[in-house]
Amino acid sequence: MEAYKKLLSSNKDWAAEKLANDSKYFSRLANIQTPTFLWIGCSDSRVPANEITGTQPGEIFVHRNVANLVINTDVNLLSVLDFAVNHLKVRHVIICGHYGCGGIKAALTNHDYKAVLNMWLRNIKDVYRIHKTELDNISEEEKKADRLVELNVVEQVYNLAKTSIIQRAWKHEQQPHLHGWVYGLKDGIINPVCEMTAGTHIDSIYEYDDL
Ligand code: CO
Repeated sequence: MEAYKKLLSSNKDWAAEKLANDSKYFSRLANIQTPTFLWIGCSDSRVPANEITGTQPGEIFVHRNVANLVINTDVNLLSVLDFAVNHLKVRHVIICGHYGCGGIKAALTNHDYKAVLNMWLRNIKDVYRIHKTELDNISEEEKKADRLVELNVVEQVYNLAKTSIIQRAWKHEQQPHLHGWVYGLKDGIINPVCEMTAGTHIDSIYEYDDL
């Protein structure tokens, strides 16, 4: 059987199983979407948001890209953020990176990945530059990459806090709570590395005073 046909056949089995357990499963989900969480994760196939958090369809609104970056000109991510915060009213936004991230490892090399990937990975190189003193002191390559994974998550949470979307919601609704997590491919455990609650002050140059 061709690989993609297996997906369609497994899907039929899955839908039948859900219905067998709960005849209203799909009609309930089809009518309402009220997730509590927005998940911004890596596209890596080994980090499926619902599965590793034991959540069901309907519980997490998901955006994924290479190395879980929050870039202030990314209309895709910002649309997801705007919709999640202002329409779905999610209470938590989670940036979830993962140890062993290929995007992070690629950014640590000096290899030319050609125009588009270079452009994307440069954002990670910028994170390296901000934390250069700490990272240059780590001699073992794997440890250095893992620390950059953590620092990248910290910077992406910070990038969320720089947006007027988050700052306006913080001011008027005292939410969402921002979280920076790192998932371990080797043990399946999520390591929380940072958080920001509503109203947290960041560098004043980024703070809007007329929201
Ligand atoms: Co990754």
